[in-house]
Amino acid sequence: MRFTSTFAALSSVMALAISASSASPAADRRSTQPSNQVAFVTNCTSTSDQPVFTIALDDGIRSQEYHSYVVDAFNKRGYTPFFFTNGDNYDCLFKYRHEIKKTLKHGQALYGSHGWAHPNATAISLEDWERDIELLELAYINMGLGRPYFYRFPYGEHNDEHLVKLKERGYLAAVQWNQDSYDSWGKTKHEILSMLRQDLRSPALPKNLLWLNHETQDVDVKQGLLNFEFKHMKKLGKKYVDLPQCLNYNGPLFAPPTEKERQLASQLPTNDCKAFAAAYDQLPGPKGRKSL
Ligand SMILES: *[C@@H]1O[C@H](CO)[C@@H](O)[C@H](O)[C@H]1NC(C)=O
Ligand SMILES: *[C@@H]1O[C@H](CO)[C@@H](O)[C@H](O)[C@H]1NC(C)=O
Ligand SMILES: [Zn+2]
Repeated sequence: MRFTSTFAALSSVMALAISASSASPAADRRSTQPSNQVAFVTNCTSTSDQPVFTIALDDGIRSQEYHSYVVDAFNKRGYTPFFFTNGDNYDCLFKYRHEIKKTLKHGQALYGSHGWAHPNATAISLEDWERDIELLELAYINMGLGRPYFYRFPYGEHNDEHLVKLKERGYLAAVQWNQDSYDSWGKTKHEILSMLRQDLRSPALPKNLLWLNHETQDVDVKQGLLNFEFKHMKKLGKKYVDLPQCLNYNGPLFAPPTEKERQLASQLPTNDCKAFAAAYDQLPGPKGRKSL
């Protein structure tokens, strides 16, 4: 249902805007978000009385093994994971087109954009960063899914110009986190658990948690960090919601592409991610504006 109607998308855009503007002013920069920028979200705006949590996992897909482990770990509890995927990071996303479409169709997993090759947005030109997000848009269009509505900045690095561009390109929000799992800090599981235990018993712990995890990290996939998070959240009485629910959003995850975007996406070779990006760079027109 989530993926069907354009009308649902439009009404949900408004729901997101409304929930953003009614957020508590001091705690959240969304309340001062100019209307030409996408919402920059770090908290669940769910209005449920019961505390909630959600987990979004970045940087994948690393391999079928890692991806399936995560999907199963969530699904066996009745949860749905959200993946902010890259196009060309640990592996080339095109290899997983069937996996992505299958898990989406069966409601087993949800997907958004973490860009093509995981750049630090503030360390490169705006044009190079737009190229990076456009490559993944075209990849998702090529898979028949459309332009993603939700984006997560690598490292959280961004400035206002990026938020304006995301808005122009039809994104609904940049979705970051208010709880790091520390899974990408190069620490041992023991060190991570001791940092997390400290966070989770702090009086400053937000009522609703929006977690940052990584599908690509061994501590998540081989060493049970996700299980620790699930158990600890249960102990704290926090109920799992999926990422759209955390944002009070119930529209589709992808926008229908224009005819031009569809044609462009279908011209590019998808057997190999390097070839895909190289062919894109040969197209006429400025970087990151080819599909507009
Ligand atoms: C991103 O780039 C900026 C500008 O060069 C730098 O200040 C910042 O530390 C970088 N962030 C990361 C995570 O590397
Ligand atoms: C939102 O998250 C920040 C941490 O990023 C936290 O300090 C703040 O308390 C949270 N606000 C709400 C309303 O939960
Ligand atoms: Zn990342």
